Amino acid sequence: MRFTCLILFTMVACTVFPSAVQADDVISYRRHVWPILKRHCFACHSGGKPEGQLSLATAASIARGGETGPLVVPGKPRESLLIEMVSGAEPSMPPKGRPLSQAKIDILKTWIGQGGKIDSIAPLAESRVVIPREYTHAPALAAVAFSPDGQRIACACRSEVVVIAANGQGPPLRLQTNSDLLTHVEFSADGKLLLAGGGTPSRFGEVSVFSMAGGKRILSRRVSQDTLFRGGFSPDGKRVALGGADGAVYVIPLDKTSPPQRIELHSDWVVDVAWTPDGTKLITAGRDKATKVASYQTGKLLRTVDSSAERVSSVVTDGVFAVSAGKSRTLIGYQLDVALQNVGVTGAGNGAKPVTRRNQYVKNFESQPGEVIDIALSGDRKSIAVAGTAAEIRVYTVADRKRTAVVKGVRVPVFCVALNQNASLLAVGSRDGRLEVFRLPKGEQVFSRIPVPMKKAVTRR
Ligand code: HEC
Repeated sequence: MRFTCLILFTMVACTVFPSAVQADDVISYRRHVWPILKRHCFACHSGGKPEGQLSLATAASIARGGETGPLVVPGKPRESLLIEMVSGAEPSMPPKGRPLSQAKIDILKTWIGQGGKIDSIAPLAESRVVIPREYTHAPALAAVAFSPDGQRIACACRSEVVVIAANGQGPPLRLQTNSDLLTHVEFSADGKLLLAGGGTPSRFGEVSVFSMAGGKRILSRRVSQDTLFRGGFSPDGKRVALGGADGAVYVIPLDKTSPPQRIELHSDWVVDVAWTPDGTKLITAGRDKATKVASYQTGKLLRTVDSSAERVSSVVTDGVFAVSAGKSRTLIGYQLDVALQNVGVTGAGNGAKPVTRRNQYVKNFESQPGEVIDIALSGDRKSIAVAGTAAEIRVYTVADRKRTAVVKGVRVPVFCVALNQNASLLAVGSRDGRLEVFRLPKGEQVFSRIPVPMKKAVTRR
């Protein structure tokens, strides 16, 4: 399922499991079953909108089951939906990733065979984020950003932001957060602050702000019950808007006390948010396949500018156009003034239908060679870089949609890209944890490195 999901699942910390069960072992829900469900199922089956309406958050909700009813027929593992869903050559659950091991399925079966009682649910204790001094496996790069002066590059590496010099030299500056997984990094316009957004899946969303002068965290705020996704600083630098896993956009003031604003726009994860340069509008991209424009002042939807056949991953805007793309390989520019004509009259509220015909404001770019996972906007807002599952990154000028550069042979899948102020440098972060920087328009590689410190390779026998 979806890349963001993939990032979440590959990065969420592992739990230790009991080894194989014997038939006469007494299985405890809390000690044996819950760790399995928590690790493999909880992320999708919890929160405000659990998948299949099945929430594993409380004993009562587990007993109730989902759309199709209870999970468990006590004493009868073979008749229980839970076992049916996780067994077989291609088990239905989890829908993506490695199926449950036979040992874990046996634990579930034995538990149901013994009556399937839920003795108690372990409280979801605050799990401490552990940041290794050196990594054995490089964490995937979820986000990357240039400082406005182009001297530094910040990378979101699991729970920490790692800042390195833009020439690739020197030791990294490591800035820790309390989020399991960061999804967004960004420097403030004056380069003095560094913002990191993310959270711990099914627990909380969080923004952390660091002062670049002291390398210290000066603010951290938690909102919502789930991870936050991409977004950005408001043009005045006073707040940040990030997408939420509950279909809302969170606008979070960068002080300790003003309440955050929650703008409900989508029916599924809001994966990216972009401010228009005048700060009046938010353009949002949702896993519900829609690209929307909302008024920041009123929090109201102005228009759903598009509904794609596939999910949308990223959105940027230069103020004249919004550009979004995702799985469908189409990169589309939306001319905002045309798209928003007459919106005051008929366009308010959710589900508003565009009054202007779509083809009047849609400006297609050339089609893309692969699924688009991230679009970067240069600091001057004139250029974009488009990256994803294809081994090449294409750069365009927003105004005329002309391609200005192609960088080939990058490591796939690319999870994130960034451009510096005038699009002379491109930073590329991949799932395998490597950061590559290229000079544009020619595409010469400046450097390629893993930003986090790695354990020295152990000699293999
Ligand atoms: C990546 C997200 C994801 C993960 C992880 C996941 N599920 Fe699901 N699950 C879904 C979705 C989406 C549905 C609804 C669509 C469907 O039935 O395929 C669903 C439906 C279900 C249902 C049917 C609910 C009903 O009553 O219709 C059961 C049972 C279930 N999941 C069990 C599990 C178990 C057990 C695990 C862990 C081993 C798990 N799921 C992990 C996404 C997930």
